Amino acid sequence: MKTEFETLIAAALEARKRAYAPYSKFAVGAAVLSDDGEVFTGCNVENLSFGLTLCAERNALASAVATGQRKFQALAVVADSREPISPCGACRQVMAEFGDYALVAATLGGDVFESTVEELLPRARTGILDLQDSR
Ligand code: THU
Repeated sequence: MKTEFETLIAAALEARKRAYAPYSKFAVGAAVLSDDGEVFTGCNVENLSFGLTLCAERNALASAVATGQRKFQALAVVADSREPISPCGACRQVMAEFGDYALVAATLGGDVFESTVEELLPRARTGILDLQDSR
């Protein structure tokens, strides 16, 4: 596995320790690597009104964007699951807002699934509003 993926997974594992998941008890951590080499993390933040739960991936991206980052090389997500988890549809759409980059999902046991944003959500921005890349 690429060194940057290992670094990102380690950062996601740290963020996972701070997950707020009192309802599902399913802690998730994420980390995103910007084009200029910075790492930003996020964890899931649940809510008593379940639908308001924020996923780790979106929180990591929001944290990066809040510092001015809009271009990314890779995003890692980790959970204590039998298989590497598959990001939800909402997170895929939010990931795709910022273009195509690598996605790596890992279990605590070290199983890894590598993909890309484009593979997970093809044609995410095609045709809509006829926008140019706004990043
Ligand atoms: N969750 C994430 O944070 N990321 C994913 O990719 C899958 C699901 C969270 C949402 C909720 O807090 C818990 O995991 C169970 O769905």
